[in-house]
Amino acid sequence: MVRSVLTEAHTLHPACNANFQLHHLQVGSNEPGTVSAILLILDARQTERTFMAVILDKATLPRSLSVNLDHMATLRQVRRTTYPSLTTAAGICEVAGADGVTLHLREDRRHIQDRDLELLRETSLLPITLEMGSTDEMVDIALRNRPHAVTLVPERRQELTTEGGLDAVKLAPALESVVGRLKEQGIIVCLFLEPDPAQIDAAARLKCDSVELHTGAYALDWEKSRTDAISNHLSRIGAVVRQGVELGMQMNAGHGLHYQNIRPLAALEGLTEFSIGHSIICRSLFVGLEKAVREMGALIRQWTS
Ligand code: PXP
Repeated sequence: MVRSVLTEAHTLHPACNANFQLHHLQVGSNEPGTVSAILLILDARQTERTFMAVILDKATLPRSLSVNLDHMATLRQVRRTTYPSLTTAAGICEVAGADGVTLHLREDRRHIQDRDLELLRETSLLPITLEMGSTDEMVDIALRNRPHAVTLVPERRQELTTEGGLDAVKLAPALESVVGRLKEQGIIVCLFLEPDPAQIDAAARLKCDSVELHTGAYALDWEKSRTDAISNHLSRIGAVVRQGVELGMQMNAGHGLHYQNIRPLAALEGLTEFSIGHSIICRSLFVGLEKAVREMGALIRQWTS
């Protein structure tokens, strides 16, 4: 099966000639319409990386993109100005085909402010996901504003960005009432977790609607071109995605994802939503926000046609 996929890749992909090495990263199922293999193509000096997925037949893999606007707010907060406007940004995301916007209201309010959430709740045509710590203050804010979804994340004041997943196993007793209170108000509840089977089981026991898998470690290994580690991350993520789907939860992913490392993840069957911020906002400096969102949307959805 792997050999035939590799042969097929050589004929399908123009980059697969004698100067390129083909690394097979992951083999999926043999079912029509599913991803049968993910391949990494490296040039001879291992500098240029291209990914492709071999899909046995055309499939409809549902995919959605929620654009994280935190770093639009970071730019505003460094000068405490009124611009750039997050409501304008959310409107452009909508025009560009995004499926949602995400805001992380941190305890220290370093980027998103309470007023951003209120304004976006009044004006955004897109569903809003609120990322937050599971504190009483944040739960009150969520219940007052009633975003479409809440993603519960761990939060440490000193961290540059969210550095790991929640420990849902250890925190289960405390999380139970938070999850229950949010769900009672019709808010979709998601936990930000490491791709660890015990964590996925804990989320299901807490009756969470969805899980966002922390892709930070995958992204770090990607930057170091560690092929074996990338392959291991993809296998681990693929396995917990299957586990979560079987347990009835929607499986999402986010953190550190950009226009290159998104490709093999977007090809994984069962992942639904990608929460992406920093890379999109950075790219928007050069190509504009609409194009940056459209390009990421296309990378996520290219496996559907
Ligand atoms: N998902 C979660 C839970 C996050 O905390 C963040 C960062 O705020 C993201 C996704 C987006 O990460 P990035 O900005 O690296 O795309």
